Amino acid sequence: MMRRNQSPKTIRVISVTSGKGGVGKTSVVANLALALCRMNKRVLILDADLGLANMDVMLGLNPRYTIQNVLKREKRIEEVIVTAPGGFKLLPAASGIQELTELDNGERLFLLNELDSIQDRFDVLLIDTAAGISSNVMYFNFAAMEKVVVVTNEPTSLTDAYALIKVLNNKYHQKRFKVLVNSARSASEADRIYRNLGLVADQFLGSPSLDYLGWIPYDKMVPASIRQQQMVLQRYPDTPASKSFVSLAEKLMGKEEEQAFAGDIRFFWRRLLKV
Ligand SMILES: Nc1ncnc2c1ncn2[C@@H]1O[C@H](COP(=O)(O)OP(=O)(O)OP(=O)(O)O)[C@@H](O)[C@H]1O
Ligand SMILES: [Mg+2]
Repeated sequence: MMRRNQSPKTIRVISVTSGKGGVGKTSVVANLALALCRMNKRVLILDADLGLANMDVMLGLNPRYTIQNVLKREKRIEEVIVTAPGGFKLLPAASGIQELTELDNGERLFLLNELDSIQDRFDVLLIDTAAGISSNVMYFNFAAMEKVVVVTNEPTSLTDAYALIKVLNNKYHQKRFKVLVNSARSASEADRIYRNLGLVADQFLGSPSLDYLGWIPYDKMVPASIRQQQMVLQRYPDTPASKSFVSLAEKLMGKEEEQAFAGDIRFFWRRLLKV
């Protein structure tokens, strides 16, 4: 029987991705997860950098099992998920396992089905993808309802982001992206980077397909906290980057129109069967 006041379960599935490596995806995902957790959201991170996992290292965790054990049918997903400092959950990936860098379709669907089975327990699923345009990266971005593309002021970060967006658009018909500028020196620099990306992308996407999600300042406390295997928001809550992560989390959650469309993971992932 339906309980009264039972709202339909909605989970936001958000991928954080980039063309170029090392632009701050893993840092963004970890700190965003913590900020969302403090807003009483139930957050799960999927470390989708499957062959070169490092979210667990960044969080100072040493997980016993990984996604590889799930794919080998040795463990159920709930046995593999670990709790991170701050209370959010992580589904860890394995490192140095080359076969994970190119999952086949059967493995991908199995993984998504496993995630489906636990979706009721979470409000937000954050996917930390690998960099680049490999088929795994494309797949996880396609599976996510919301795609956050991280860029920095390096010109190669912009050209690589452009390449990523282009492939997702041309081959996977993805039209909407949120742009997050990381390691910027000022709001105006971040704005210029966003507009530069928009100028090239609009030529084939048509505007307004690139939403400006915001920017995170360059902050030396980010690498300092990574060296201590802690999130900057946890270790240095008052530093500028930490404050920006909190604002970013609030902005993401404030977009009500997105939430209305969030729906069920299955609804989105079913599309994958059709390609
Ligand atoms: N806002 C920031 N200010 C200063 N340094 C930063 C910032 N964000 C990230 N970094 C630094 O950039 C480096 C790369 O960060 P991170 O590992 O999060 O990037 P990534 O995109 O996940 O990399 P990869 O593509 O290898 O997975 C780290 O040393 C991190 O400390
Ligand atoms: Mg990373």
